[in-house]
Amino acid sequence: MNISLEGKVALITGAGSGIGAATARLIAQSGGFVAVTGIPEAGINAVSGEINSAGGEAIAIPVDASDSDQLKAAIAATVEKFGRLDIVVASAGIQMHNEDVDLHQLPEEAWDRTHDVNYRGVMLTCKHALAQMVEQGGGGRIVIISSITGISGRSANVSYLSGKTGLLGLNRYIAVHYAKYGIRCNAVLPGALELTPNHDQHPNAAGREKLMNETIPLGRLGTPEDIAPMVTFLCSDEARYASGGQFVVDGGITVI
Ligand SMILES: NC(=O)c1ccc[n+]([C@@H]2O[C@H](COP(=O)([O-])OP(=O)(O)OC[C@H]3O[C@@H](n4cnc5c(N)ncnc54)[C@H](O)[C@@H]3O)[C@@H](O)[C@H]2O)c1
Repeated sequence: MNISLEGKVALITGAGSGIGAATARLIAQSGGFVAVTGIPEAGINAVSGEINSAGGEAIAIPVDASDSDQLKAAIAATVEKFGRLDIVVASAGIQMHNEDVDLHQLPEEAWDRTHDVNYRGVMLTCKHALAQMVEQGGGGRIVIISSITGISGRSANVSYLSGKTGLLGLNRYIAVHYAKYGIRCNAVLPGALELTPNHDQHPNAAGREKLMNETIPLGRLGTPEDIAPMVTFLCSDEARYASGGQFVVDGGITVI
């Protein structure tokens, strides 16, 4: 990908796998320095090690993205290592396939845990990132990973659906109220990928794959590598006029 993020400092949550990991690799290939954050530690260590072995610069920081203190400390550690913070990608997310059931039977713990990570956690990520970006004199790019689930009523997972919808409001709020600091914020809405978050829990992975491959206009489920280029583009100067946008990357499924 021919985009330069030379010398830009990025922190990515949930970067030990999936979209976060693919984005960490691509930002590093584009010249950025990357704080690879997330849990579990094995994933972030592997991604960070891979980037460093390939000649890039990364550090791994174990962070539970639902924990305000850990997020704040991770941003401080990133600034200590690389001198500033230019880019934040909030990719950490969970999907409690089996517990996040029909609303009239929903265990409230499923709602709370999903929102702790997917909604409150992203708010906290943005809060601490914005504090650093404002303090260092403004400028910055934030990309929030929402989902096409945020613009549809179709998902059976009500907590996941409503959290991803809420993120679109957070995206708009930041875009409007932090433009004066030179900070842009955008949301990427991935479609159905080969593996979902917490995919081990998926009740019918094979059925989902068959249905999606038949339904998606481009004829296949997506991969993290299909999403990372859009995220990386939005972090670049080439996307300088994009803020508050909702960028759907879904093989065409939402327009059927
Ligand atoms: N895979 C899909 O079909 C799909 C579709 C639309 C949106 N998304 C969204 O994309 C984002 C990334 O998902 P993915 O597809 O790459 O799946 P993934 O499960 O590979 O990535 C999520 C990452 O977040 C980490 N994580 C979970 N809880 C965490 C926490 N509390 N703190 C820090 N890290 C935590 C996981 O360990 C994992 O590494 C998620 O927000 C997800 O909701 C995924």
